[in-house]
Amino acid sequence: MDLSPSILAADLTDLKSSLQELEGKVEYLHMDIMDGHFVPTLSFGELYTRLLKQHTGIPLDVHLMVSQPEKEVPKYFELEPANITFHVEATDFSVRLAREIRKQGIQAGVSLNPATSLSSLDYLLDEIDLVLIMSVEPGFYGQSFIQSSLEKIERLRELIGDRDITIEVDGGIDASNIGRIMEAGARRIVAGSACFKGGDIAGNVSRLREAAAVSLDSKHAS
Ligand code: DX5
Ligand code: ZN
Repeated sequence: MDLSPSILAADLTDLKSSLQELEGKVEYLHMDIMDGHFVPTLSFGELYTRLLKQHTGIPLDVHLMVSQPEKEVPKYFELEPANITFHVEATDFSVRLAREIRKQGIQAGVSLNPATSLSSLDYLLDEIDLVLIMSVEPGFYGQSFIQSSLEKIERLRELIGDRDITIEVDGGIDASNIGRIMEAGARRIVAGSACFKGGDIAGNVSRLREAAAVSLDSKHAS
């Protein structure tokens, strides 16, 4: 399992110490970029992301919740993130955008809101490296997991077949449901509140990993 803590849920006034705690413990840092238009909230953009990068070696997982992502995507190229993920609902030019991202040697991801059908991926699967399934409506951290996401993840896994595409899931994930989400086919897990709540980041991260491992072990044993 790859874990990608959502920085949005961290104490943004004391990020350096949060980053130090995460170093060596997680595979990615999930950057929730919000424009106050595609989603109701404004968060941060490329300048803040650049500053943050100066304090960490953890690869960046950029999640753009913005309208017209074709205008925003190029701003992140110089930050050399692991991937740039945009929403299929926000653009009419998904294929072109995915190709532009890949041309930079960066993985291209597309994200689907909870009510967006998997059919929106029909002509995209050979153009992308990652699908981010939203298991809450985007815009806020701390919401509860939408159960129908589990079936969606399973169906996506079948659609992907043997293509090399990562399934990432984002929203409302904690120790109580992480196992089932992994079983359904997720390989990368975003966690905001579950990573940062109470300030015990190291403890929170290991609890999430233990919960995922226990659930997967019991599946193999049965
Ligand atoms: C929602 C964001 C998520 C969110 C996750 O708009 O895309 O990444 O911060 O936070 P939790 O895990 O608390 O739902
Ligand atoms: Zn996100």
